[in-house]
Amino acid sequence: MNWNDHAKYYDWEFELICTKQREDIRIWKALTNEFGGPILELCCGSGRITQELVNDGHHIFAIDNSIEMLDILKAKNLPNLEILKSDMTTFKLDRRFKFAIISYSSFQQLLTLEEQIKCLSNIHDHLEDGGVLAMDINPRICEGEEILLRTHSYTAEYPINNSIVTMYTSHSIDRINQIKHWRDEYLEIAENGEERKTYVDISLKECSKDYMKLLFEKSNFEIINIYGDFDKGEVTEDSENLVYVAQTS
Ligand SMILES: C[S@@+](CC[C@H](N)C(=O)[O-])C[C@H]1O[C@@H](n2cnc3c(N)ncnc32)[C@H](O)[C@@H]1O
Repeated sequence: MNWNDHAKYYDWEFELICTKQREDIRIWKALTNEFGGPILELCCGSGRITQELVNDGHHIFAIDNSIEMLDILKAKNLPNLEILKSDMTTFKLDRRFKFAIISYSSFQQLLTLEEQIKCLSNIHDHLEDGGVLAMDINPRICEGEEILLRTHSYTAEYPINNSIVTMYTSHSIDRINQIKHWRDEYLEIAENGEERKTYVDISLKECSKDYMKLLFEKSNFEIINIYGDFDKGEVTEDSENLVYVAQTS
């Protein structure tokens, strides 16, 4: 997965097309107020959630393995923020946290059971006794049909350099391993007509409720709540995001 290549478009594209996901900030604000800090944020990216939580007065330790995403976060010059470039499965810190978060399906970028358990166990080691981990999981990753042909997603003005960006997308689904692979193509046409293409590949693993229960159990976490939306609603057949809240056991 090449988040470095995607970094420059991330904040802009998120504002442009991610209308539902942006509602997630409500639950992150509510949960951080409930569980307090200091907060460990994994896969912080360019700091979409980080920024809001820091503005609410929380101290955040933010980790991501993309230097380009972190450079964007650093340029925001936020107070009460420490940043580390590291992997969520292997980072090592000599301190512990009360609360850890992983937003926007980011945990699902770990594609094997082995990596997932390694990550959860690592987070467990960095939580205080009774510390809590919350993560937002999309339980419908592999639903629907594949889109194998490059398909137009949007065309919009990219104000950073006044170019026009067109995004084409396609995705295949590995039904055996329950993984969806996206290939996004960004065609940027500059004011002088010059063209530049960027390709971004992202894969996410399906994680059903039962699967998550076993995963948490195996990593010595006890699930204390599962919310079915970003307002702490119940889990229903139609839930598109499940927010798991699990405590070290
Ligand atoms: C969808 S973005 C989420 C960014 C931000 N949390 C948000 O909600 O907008 C996913 C982020 O996960 C990071 N990431 C992917 N795999 C990672 C890993 N193994 N360890 C740490 N960060 C990772 C990527 O670099 C990217 O910034």
